[in-house]
Amino acid sequence: MALVNMKDLLNHAYANHYAVGAFEIVSLKLLHAVITAAEQTRSPVILNIVEPHFDLFDVELLMPSVVDVARRASVPVAVHMDHCESLASVQSAIRLGCNGVMVDGAQDELPDNINKTREVVTLAHGCGVPVEGELGHVPGMKPDIDDDAKSVQTSANEARVFVERTNVDFLAVSIGTMHGVANGKLRLDYNRLSKINEAVNIPLVIHGGTGLTDQQYHKLIDQGVAKINYFTALAELIVAQTQKNLSKKEVGYRGMFANVHEALVAEVKRVMQVWRSAGRAAEILIQCSTWNNVEHVIVYNTNDNDPTVTQIMLRKGKQKLSSIPGVLEVRIGRATDDKSKYRYCWLVRFAHENVIENYKNHPVHVEFADSYFRPLAVDRVTNDYEIIDDMELARQFRA
Ligand code: 13P
Repeated sequence: MALVNMKDLLNHAYANHYAVGAFEIVSLKLLHAVITAAEQTRSPVILNIVEPHFDLFDVELLMPSVVDVARRASVPVAVHMDHCESLASVQSAIRLGCNGVMVDGAQDELPDNINKTREVVTLAHGCGVPVEGELGHVPGMKPDIDDDAKSVQTSANEARVFVERTNVDFLAVSIGTMHGVANGKLRLDYNRLSKINEAVNIPLVIHGGTGLTDQQYHKLIDQGVAKINYFTALAELIVAQTQKNLSKKEVGYRGMFANVHEALVAEVKRVMQVWRSAGRAAEILIQCSTWNNVEHVIVYNTNDNDPTVTQIMLRKGKQKLSSIPGVLEVRIGRATDDKSKYRYCWLVRFAHENVIENYKNHPVHVEFADSYFRPLAVDRVTNDYEIIDDMELARQFRA
C-alpha cells in the first residue's frame, strides 16, 4: 500500500532537513519491530537488505515478507539492497522487489568505481530504480578483511566528478563514521561534509549510523544527510536482552525472547524522533509517487495443432524472459472455459513502467518473440497495466 519511490522520498528528506532510517532487516523479528516503530511514530522508513550479510538469512525466503510488509504499511516505505557487489546482484535485488539499490565500488580506484557504478545506474534506471553510490571507504563492513579496516575519507572534488559521470541519485560518504561499534566518540569532519554537499547537491547517506550523539546526527542532517544506515545498535540490543533473559532460571523458547520486540521498537522510535522523520508520513504520501509494478498481459491463440511445439515455446519463454532486467515474474495461463476468445495468456510482471520499452527491445525478448512466439501466436492482444494499489484506490475514491 505505501511502497513509495525512494528517489522522491530521499529528495523530500533532503529538501526538508530530516533523515530517513535505513534499518537492516536480517529476520522477521527485526522486520516486525522496525515497521511497528514506523507506524507508531508516523515515520517513513527504508527496509535495508545487506548483501554481505546473506549468511545470516535466506534472501529468497525473507524478501517476499519484506515487500509485503512495505506494501501493507500505512506509512511510506522503500525497500533497498545495500552493498551490491555485482551487476548480477543488482538485477537480482530488483527481481526480488527492491526499489533502491546501492553499488559498493568504494574500495576500487576512482575510474573503476565510476565505470562499475555507471553500469549499475544504466541497468537500475532502466527499471526505474534509483541508485546509491559510495565514494571513500567506511571501514568495518567486512571486519575479517585487512583492507576494510582503513577509513578513506571522501574528497569533495572527486565526489563532484563521480556524481556527474555516474548519474547516481544518492551518495554515501566517508567522513569519520564506521560500521559496527566504535572505540570512544567518533570525530566527524563536518567541514568536509559541507563541501561535498555543496559540490554534489543530492541526498547524502551515512553508513555506520550506530553510536553517534543526537547533536552529531543533527549536524549531519544539517549538511545534507538524508539517509542513515543503522544496524549494530539493534543487533546488540537483541543479544543483550536475550542474554539477560537466558540468565534467569528455566527459560523456555518464549522467555528467551521476552521484551526483545519492545526494546527494538523503543530504539527505532527513539532514532526516528532524533532524525526528525517522525510525524512526516502524511505529507510524504501526498507529495511522493507510489511504486507500482506493471503487468504485461498477452492473450493469444496458437495456430499449431501439435501441442509439443506450443509446449517448447512456453518453456523457452518462461526461462528466457525471466532473465531480462526488471522482470519480476513470468506466468503462463490457460483459459478455464473452452469457449474463451483467447485460449492462452502470458502475465509478465515488471518492476516499473520504465521496463516496458527496455523489455520490448531487449535481444532476449526480440529473439524469443521473432523465433518462437509470434510465428505461433499470430492471433494475440498485448497490453500493459499499472497495478493500482489500495492507497491509490482510496485516494481516487476521496477525489
Ligand atoms: P551500523 O552497523 O554501524 O549501524 O551501520 C550499518 C550500515 O551502515 C549498513 O550499511
